[in-house]
Amino acid sequence: MQVEPLSAAVGARVTGVDLSSELDAASIEALRVALDEHHVLAFPNQDLTPERHVEVGEWFGTPYIHPYLTPVDAHPAILEVRKEADETEVFGGQYWHADITFSDPPAAASLLYSLDIPPIGGDTLFANQHLAFERLSVGMQTMLGGLNAVHCYPGKTEDEASAVHPVLRLHPRTRRPALYINAAFVSRFENMTEDESKPLLDFLFAHQTRPEFQLRLGWTARMLTIWDNRSVLHYAMNDHHGYRRELQRVTSIEFL
Ligand code: SIN
Repeated sequence: MQVEPLSAAVGARVTGVDLSSELDAASIEALRVALDEHHVLAFPNQDLTPERHVEVGEWFGTPYIHPYLTPVDAHPAILEVRKEADETEVFGGQYWHADITFSDPPAAASLLYSLDIPPIGGDTLFANQHLAFERLSVGMQTMLGGLNAVHCYPGKTEDEASAVHPVLRLHPRTRRPALYINAAFVSRFENMTEDESKPLLDFLFAHQTRPEFQLRLGWTARMLTIWDNRSVLHYAMNDHHGYRRELQRVTSIEFL
């Protein structure tokens, strides 16, 4: 297996591994360690059936059945990420986010497999949230260490679909601290109003997506990209109007 970094901040391309064939426990653990180190792994030229896609997801956590989005037929843990040539909106909207942070336990990995990719555009951006935390002042880091954030599913009330998570979250495998908030799901800090929270959240939302924390990942068909939602945010570029883009996503919940 070869692992080549894709940017100074985050991400690696992995070749020399066929994810459709059986891997032994040591090889699977080597992939988990590579994800701990690089946070985003892109595997070009993979032939995955939907069943195998879910099985690979099980290496990283428990595949999540989304309570509000309709899955692919016969595969409850697979979501379709599709924009037709004549559509204007992308799946997930144009927000930097980590997946399903309104859930507790939260998401570990997401695994996005490309089926149909536009000839140009449709990249995914990632931002390293360990670096984002480490580049804050010690005073800010200390203050954030005492705060929790409320993550709520858009359009639902906090009673219906929300979770509270620490703003400074330690990665459960590496214990490396990361900023764990995002503009898609967080509207306030615990025990504060939205108005009180907004100035600091606005600063952090801008800080956590600075270009020096980012990777911009271009897709080819039949590529699997795995990212760790405890370590990175992602953003889908909506710049491929007139071209179809179709991928399928499995998200795995953190093992308890
Ligand atoms: C997602 O938010 O899971 C989809 C990302 C993408 O379409 O690039």
